[in-house]
Amino acid sequence: MSRIASDRSVERSLPAEAAGGVYREITEIGAPVLHRRCADVTEFGTEELSRLLRDMFFTMHVAHGVGLAANQIGVDLRLFVYDCPGEQGERHIGHILNPELRSTGDGSLLTRREGCLSVPGAARELTRSADVTVWGQDWRGDSVTLSATGLFARCLQHETDHTDGTLYVDRLTPEDRHHTLTQRDDHRAAALAERAQRARSMAGG
Ligand code: NI
Repeated sequence: MSRIASDRSVERSLPAEAAGGVYREITEIGAPVLHRRCADVTEFGTEELSRLLRDMFFTMHVAHGVGLAANQIGVDLRLFVYDCPGEQGERHIGHILNPELRSTGDGSLLTRREGCLSVPGAARELTRSADVTVWGQDWRGDSVTLSATGLFARCLQHETDHTDGTLYVDRLTPEDRHHTLTQRDDHRAAALAERAQRARSMAGG
């Protein structure tokens, strides 16, 4: 999930989780790997997984993301990373493998603007659960439970959707989806140019 433009004036520090990571090209809507449920992670604690997580954290940071799923860098595995502001100014940073949405709190809903790094240059209002609990595993295979409200709850739903092959635009009405993709057409080139510039300037940083 992308940060909204108004938040970008505040530059975040690079999280420790991104140390040694490299930028990986972000897949866009239409790429088959974004539109199918990915494979569950079955090998834990490997150097390969550790490297993948570092690259995902680094790529998310370059692209102004609050969340990034593995299939967004072309890897067919069900996991995502996040670096998302909380409601009291705290910063949620972490990863989860094989995520499952377990609860939607008391069922209350919230409508907010939402964007996706794989739909560059666009954002749209979308209604989602206000509170969620997501169950999954960490990179060593231990159980993890995340409970969230606000933007972080939205982020967890958006990223869990990615691992299942669903984009936020798939949850819009046909008319809203059309407007969103038109907006993407108009702003995609500028958004990708900015991302490429940041990737160059932050490489090795
Ligand atoms: Ni996304």
